Amino acid sequence: SAPWINPPCACQPERMSGGSMAMGARSKHHPKSLALRCYCYAASHRSLTLLVWGLAALVVLLNFHLLVTHGKDDQSGRPREIHRAILRELEVVEEERFQVTPARSRRNPRAVRRKGEHTKPLSVVDEFLDESSAVHDMFFPEPRTAIDPVHGGNDSMYFYHPGRVWLDTDGKPIQAHGGGVLYDERTETYFWYGENKDGKTYKAHSKGADRVDIVGVSCYSSKDLWAWKNEGVVLRGEKKNVTHDLHVSNVLERPKVIYNDRTGKYVMWMHIDDANYTKASVGVAVSDSPTGPFSYLYSKRPHDCESRDMTIFKDDNGKAYLIYSSEDNSELHIGQLTDDYLDVTDDMRRFLIAQHREAPSLFKFDGTYYMITSGCTGWAPNTALAHAATSVMGPWETLGSPCVGGNDIFRSTTFFSQSTFVLPLRGLRGSFIFMADRWNPSDLRDSRYVWLPLTVGGVPDEAADYSFMFPLWSRVSIYWHRRWRLPEGWTDS
Ligand code: GAL
Repeated sequence: SAPWINPPCACQPERMSGGSMAMGARSKHHPKSLALRCYCYAASHRSLTLLVWGLAALVVLLNFHLLVTHGKDDQSGRPREIHRAILRELEVVEEERFQVTPARSRRNPRAVRRKGEHTKPLSVVDEFLDESSAVHDMFFPEPRTAIDPVHGGNDSMYFYHPGRVWLDTDGKPIQAHGGGVLYDERTETYFWYGENKDGKTYKAHSKGADRVDIVGVSCYSSKDLWAWKNEGVVLRGEKKNVTHDLHVSNVLERPKVIYNDRTGKYVMWMHIDDANYTKASVGVAVSDSPTGPFSYLYSKRPHDCESRDMTIFKDDNGKAYLIYSSEDNSELHIGQLTDDYLDVTDDMRRFLIAQHREAPSLFKFDGTYYMITSGCTGWAPNTALAHAATSVMGPWETLGSPCVGGNDIFRSTTFFSQSTFVLPLRGLRGSFIFMADRWNPSDLRDSRYVWLPLTVGGVPDEAADYSFMFPLWSRVSIYWHRRWRLPEGWTDS
């Protein structure tokens, strides 16, 4: 017999007696059957080994295939090198150094007492949130540094400055917080929708969150994603009827608009709540034109579940989805919308369960779905995470923090901002704009926008446990820049 049969024979009876007394007893009386058993055992052991190696080889091949297809040239035939050169402009890693401890004398003693500074040292985030702190001033630079598309001069043309006041073409600060951008094929125009928070910040009661009354949803239009024309408030808060969802005393957040090719309607979904965030619902509005006015239809709890931070996503095949934080913001839900986009279907999947994520923004690249989420810390910034899935309904897997550059504090606070939307750049495959809000809870109308380049490509930090060290996903990276602009070719379709 072959030598590889022997070793298992020696130990086999012991193993058998451990597994089955009856079998062990039978073997003693039938030496022939024992030899046969040994042979079978060895053979099956060998098959198992072959099977494991076969599977491992398959996984290696699959990963190799994925790596190759992910790194492939784009379909437009643009040589890969030129594409990489353009992307390199976006992927420059900028470091940040800043002084975190401001001179105490510069700080307002009343605010210091309120925060109980003598009992606990302030963290950078506390300082950032404290309107009397120099750290706060650093992240909310004065209006004289504003991005001004009309009077800014040629040197500043097309440059984004995350965190600076951003003026519209009328010279007024843009009011489109928690927003999203729709590219309207019919007019070849971008429309930016967001919360108009141009009101006084106050608390509905002492323990409530800082808030402003509902003004409504603003809309801005642009051809170049930099100079934005104010198209007005396309869905207004309701002043008189206190029972109306949009009554000014309620909450309207994170509006997003998609176009329905079948009905020819622009459909807006938003978070609708009462001042205490207990209604936890979604609202739906509709319009024939991207610039409104939108007619408010209704609110509901989707799938009979709480819904707070939310977004919608329209896939290439015209199917659209609602993604929302639920179960006390402990998990996310995703559900397909009906064909007219005016309601949700019954099909819903839960994901990132017990992960406490919110501010979801979903996008797609090369057939893979990606999502950026934030943690749940109200208006205070926290660490973003990137997630990926091969099917939009999941399972979703967490890839780690997407933030690159700045410094540890910048990265752990998502550059002192919270995700709201990811906008694909049509001419640059794998390149997107990450849109986020730098909330200013002491004066919410003065919250700032943080727009940064986001790219998909390369190896993620945290490979999936079951991927045998080979990443199944590409890395999602958001690059910090103090000042940046879109590279040439971003607009080619
Ligand atoms: C955040 C949420 C914002 C707003 C805020 C209120 O967690 O992302 O959209 O709801 O809480 O405190």
